[in-house]
Amino acid sequence: MRITVFLSVLLLFACNMHMQTSPSDPHSFSNPQEVVIRHLSLNLNVDFNEKKLSGYAELTIENKTGTKELKLDSRNLQIEKAEADGKETRFHLSEPVSAFGSCLSVSITPQTKKVKVYYHTLPGAEALQWLNPEQTAGGIHPFLFTQSQAILARTWIPVQDSPGVRFTYDANITSPPSLMALMSAENDTTLHADGVYHFNMPQPVPSYLMALAVGDLRFHAYDHRCGVFAEPAMIDNAAYEFADMPAMIDSASLLYGDYRWGRYDVLVLPPSFPFGGMENPRLTFATPTVIAGDRSLTSLIAHELAHSWSGNLVTNATWNDFWLNEGFTTYFEMRIMEKIYGKPYADMLSKISLEELKHTIEDMGDTNPDTRLFLDLKGRNPDDGVTDIAYEKGRMFLTLLEQTVGRMRWDVFLKNYFNEYAFKSVTTAQFEKYLNDHLLTDDEKKKVIVAQWIYRPGLPDDCPEIVSDELLKAETAANDFVSGKEVNHETFKGWTTHHFLHYMRSLPEKLSLSQLYFLDKNLGFNAVQNAEIRCQWLQLCIKNDYRPAYGNLENFLTAVGRRKFVRPLYKQLAATPAGKEFALKVYETARPGYHSVTRKSIDEILGWEQTH
Ligand code: BES
Ligand code: ZN
Repeated sequence: MRITVFLSVLLLFACNMHMQTSPSDPHSFSNPQEVVIRHLSLNLNVDFNEKKLSGYAELTIENKTGTKELKLDSRNLQIEKAEADGKETRFHLSEPVSAFGSCLSVSITPQTKKVKVYYHTLPGAEALQWLNPEQTAGGIHPFLFTQSQAILARTWIPVQDSPGVRFTYDANITSPPSLMALMSAENDTTLHADGVYHFNMPQPVPSYLMALAVGDLRFHAYDHRCGVFAEPAMIDNAAYEFADMPAMIDSASLLYGDYRWGRYDVLVLPPSFPFGGMENPRLTFATPTVIAGDRSLTSLIAHELAHSWSGNLVTNATWNDFWLNEGFTTYFEMRIMEKIYGKPYADMLSKISLEELKHTIEDMGDTNPDTRLFLDLKGRNPDDGVTDIAYEKGRMFLTLLEQTVGRMRWDVFLKNYFNEYAFKSVTTAQFEKYLNDHLLTDDEKKKVIVAQWIYRPGLPDDCPEIVSDELLKAETAANDFVSGKEVNHETFKGWTTHHFLHYMRSLPEKLSLSQLYFLDKNLGFNAVQNAEIRCQWLQLCIKNDYRPAYGNLENFLTAVGRRKFVRPLYKQLAATPAGKEFALKVYETARPGYHSVTRKSIDEILGWEQTH
């Protein structure tokens, strides 16, 4: 009895301190320096009626220091029981701390090999989105998907939720018999009549790459190593759109080394998926809004595929090092695009992104610490660090390095880097040292001020410029339109999505209603289904209060939950009282259909929490 009391006090003490995070990761309560997870066996039942996952997570651990306590991350999980090597053991949950949740401390001995945690998820588990049939393309079956990055894995699995901890996993998922379950692991491509699916992930992965989806799904194979999953109503369009996947895998492997994950498949999710894509290993999750019908938005697949090297193979050690994942991936994405579609096409995409980066820095302010590549997100939600900076400033830095040393040396360096750090995590400082030791000569070190790029805000003066003749065509056409020249329809022949986007971005902020009416009627912008063009058009309409587009706007905001699209639209609406009123009305209906990630962003923009 006395021992029990003593143990409880000890555990209470260990976990109750305010946000006592891991010394190596400010966003995790775990203690991987002492004891670390090596393997996870997950056994979960998917209950659509109660919107609940229940079962257990069995963790195989390595106790390095003989510690008596395994600290896990958990948020909003109902923990039922914990066992250490088959015997019930004590556990304690600390008071929750906002986005970080609670430290789940489990008593172990220095000899404990396996810790089993029985639990179920609670309503509002932020990683999970439970969709009603009406939110799917088919309209008949419900759908579930997870989104674990950055720190949401802990809302559906009790783990050491830190990108610096990797483990292999296997899982048994029981779902309703008519639905297919998929994970970021080895997947069957056929429906199992009993609803029981077994998964295996033999390569060690960080927790943010844990993913599960359950729905009425079909598979289309491109070849023996890759294919696409989608709802039956979407599968043909999806199969057409992503047909360049095999070529992308070939190009990527030629550039930076073998693809190490076995298969590469893409799962097309319903439109409420909050991101464009998510690089879940072996199974990228993708928004249906990239299915434009003309394969014009598939650089997203190149991006998620590139993460199979930058991110999934070589992983940012903490979310402060996020640029190591996204900057490298955005650079790699461009190289894949260039290889497959040629330099003019890749330059067009690059130029558009660079322009966006400049706008972002202008908006954030060029002394804003969040415009540094190496971030300080301690005590903050890592979601705050998800901006263009990691992606585009990161990419431009790598482009500058490429230009400084030449592509030949750069590509060898990068390939070696991926091999050197394969299945490991990297800090920004480690990368910097590797760069100085293995790439840059003393002369080159004087030329590129690495520290300025990584540790200082704003965009350095030596940022490479990108020229795109293709985009110049769009700029000329926009200028002609503004100066009142007669519009010649020949001008738009052969234009891609990106030409149209650049065309609209090159127009002045203020347009007259008759100009908008002209664009609407002659270029048919208000009827375009392509989500990128539609979103850009709608922004133009909000800025100029072009009312005939507001029905379209309302439909778009209710049908699509991709944050990149809905956020700027709500933001612009919120800039005027009438717009805000309209936004609140639409949001009231749309909000229940959004994923928690999108909801959180829009709640902030509209001050939803204060008023509801
Ligand atoms: N890994 C990211 C998505 C992400 C980042 C989720 C941070 C949660 C936190 C993914 O690879 C990504 O970058 N997606 C982009 C698309 C890409 C083409 C720029 C997106 O969703 O917009
Ligand atoms: Zn990415």
